[in-house]
Amino acid sequence: MLKAIYPGSFDPVTFGHLDIMKRSSKIVDRLIVGVLNNNAKMPLFSVAERVKMLKEVSAGFDNIEIVPFDGLLIDFAKKMEAELIIRGLRAITDFEYELQMSQTNHKLGSGVETMFLTTSIEYSYLSSTTVKEIAAFGGDTSQFVPEAVKRELEKKMRAKEAY
Ligand code: PNS
Repeated sequence: MLKAIYPGSFDPVTFGHLDIMKRSSKIVDRLIVGVLNNNAKMPLFSVAERVKMLKEVSAGFDNIEIVPFDGLLIDFAKKMEAELIIRGLRAITDFEYELQMSQTNHKLGSGVETMFLTTSIEYSYLSSTTVKEIAAFGGDTSQFVPEAVKRELEKKMRAKEAY
């Protein structure tokens, strides 16, 4: 059985992430979406909120599981008994960081490989950061994130305004 981890911050999950999840879940037997619990990154959504949104948008896939993690990705991969780490590559600008991360992970944990899927062209420009910026300025995020995520973004932005 081929088990893979698709790790990330998912702050919040976008259609680009969902595309990688859908495509990689067809390649592997079991896909664990690892949600980084790292407050140093100052996420907009708590890890519990990010996990909840991911569970909602991946509900139709029976081989996808959403699991939060902290610490080293390679330790999480070993704990979950995953042989593969999956990452999406949008553009050449992603490459340097992803190469460094995959080589580091390879050094830290022999036996765990990283596999890259190129992002589908319609999502190559998309990032959680730009989605948050659009939402912060009251823009429409419906073409970038699933409806449930759009609602949570709007709720979060309203709460920030009231604060
Ligand atoms: O969605 P992101 O923010 O690009 O995901 C980055 C992530 C979570 C994959 C990366 O930050 C990570 O693996 N963090 C865990 C810490 C770790 O293992 N660091 C060493 C590898 S370079």
